[in-house]
Amino acid sequence: MRALLVAALLFAATPALAQADGAAVADGRYQAVLGDCAGCHGDDLSGGIALETPFGRLVTPNITPDRDTGIGSYSAADFRDAMKTGIVQGKALYPAMPYTAYARMPDKDVDALFAYLKTVKPVRHAVKVNQLRFPYRWRFLMRIWNLIFFHPKAPDPASHSAAWIRGEYLVNGPGHCGTCHTPKNMFGADIKPILGGALLQGWFAPDLTGDAQTGLGGWLAADIVTYLGTGRSAHSIASGPMTEVITNSTAQMRPGDLGAIAAYLKDLPPAPGNTHASLRDVERMKRGSSLYQINCSACHGLDAKGQGPLVPPLTGNAVVNQADASTLVRLVLAGSQGAGTKAAPTRPAMPSLAWRLDDRQVADILTYVRANWGNQGTPVAQDFVGGIRAGLQDGQSASK
Ligand code: HEC
Ligand code: HEC
Ligand code: HEC
Repeated sequence: MRALLVAALLFAATPALAQADGAAVADGRYQAVLGDCAGCHGDDLSGGIALETPFGRLVTPNITPDRDTGIGSYSAADFRDAMKTGIVQGKALYPAMPYTAYARMPDKDVDALFAYLKTVKPVRHAVKVNQLRFPYRWRFLMRIWNLIFFHPKAPDPASHSAAWIRGEYLVNGPGHCGTCHTPKNMFGADIKPILGGALLQGWFAPDLTGDAQTGLGGWLAADIVTYLGTGRSAHSIASGPMTEVITNSTAQMRPGDLGAIAAYLKDLPPAPGNTHASLRDVERMKRGSSLYQINCSACHGLDAKGQGPLVPPLTGNAVVNQADASTLVRLVLAGSQGAGTKAAPTRPAMPSLAWRLDDRQVADILTYVRANWGNQGTPVAQDFVGGIRAGLQDGQSASK
């Protein structure tokens, strides 16, 4: 009789349980869209994608349920730790994994995400994650970083609409938009203005505040929804890293969620005194960034680190940061051949680019270079380039 009763209970319970599980998995799949896990861990979530950071390279780990090379050994509590504290099974994660933003997610959503991840096909793929430079490769430093920089908190919801509250949560929580759009200090931590625009490795993620010139002040909420849903709006067509964010994440978000994000972004006051004067000119930064990629990055690198002894870096470089940009402009227009010595008889040359770039293009590239990678130079004006070009031409005709 007792056995029968248990059996009956089991029968009654199983379908209900399975249904609850199914709902959690479906919800978890949507949480993975909101958090764009595939953007960094790959379409099959088996990792192996290299992230170039100012501190060296991190390669994303395998988060499929494979026991040996993935997160198959995780408990639900381990997963919550990884997502919300950045410390899992005694290991401190680097904030390149956006736990600083995911910390805002309620446990219920994190648990659903975990339920979904357990249903993903396990892939055997071992990854060497930590390829950072000394001393950053010491993980324990991140515990100190967390103490100083990691204090997640939600704003006071009072006096805000339901759409604003949801939008604020999506942008600063799972959507981790600030990973790219918020400027960082030298330790890689967010600084104000939040969502005020930031330079990535070779890309510029624009100001998302209400500033009319640099931000979304001139966009309607509907423009933002269209852009995030399709990759284009009346104001802009997405390129670079934003294209991936749109494909993997925002284009798959529910319309209501996109509307909420737009409501929140449209309510952000203009960022006061943006980080770097040049950043205020979004169009110029975009032009400078794509011109740099075409004309300079093959030699100096997308990260501007140069190539060993052959090509000098453009980060923290005195010629680049000089208050007076004359030398810099002359160098790009006329080129330069390093001195050949006995020890290093052939030195590669910096080509003359005067024939290929007009004054405005040179000014845009150099303004971009002087504001990027921690450089602190002021913008370079088109007329200024024109003056130096004229001087070089006079010199040439005089010597003929
Ligand atoms: C911006 C890139 C990025 C995004 C987006 C991202 N991750 Fe990560 N994740 C990383 C990096 C980098 C690491 C490695 C950190 C380390 O080892 O210090 C990591 C580590 C992890 C770990 C720890 C694995 C371990 O045990 O070493 C888990 C779990 C994880 N991510 C889950 C997720 C989930 C789930 C999502 C989506 C909600 C996600 N990540 C989105 C970059 C990202
Ligand atoms: C991986 C880095 C990255 C992440 C994460 C990211 N963005 Fe972007 N975003 C960019 C870049 C780079 C651009 C500039 C694209 C271009 O030049 O076409 C951009 C452009 C935009 C624009 C267009 C702005 C303009 O003035 O043209 C909007 C709006 C935007 N992002 C919103 C968001 C929102 C909302 C999120 C979070 C859900 C987000 N982004 C997350 C990198 C990112
Ligand atoms: C064909 C490879 C190549 C290209 C393309 C190139 N450079 Fe160079 N650049 C060099 C080399 C090599 C040097 C070192 C020359 C020397 O020692 O005099 C150099 C030197 C420089 C310097 C001087 C750095 C210093 O410390 O003296 C600056 C600044 C610079 N390049 C900027 C640029 C910019 C901006 C562009 C794109 C508009 C560019 N370069 C394109 C190869 C290149």
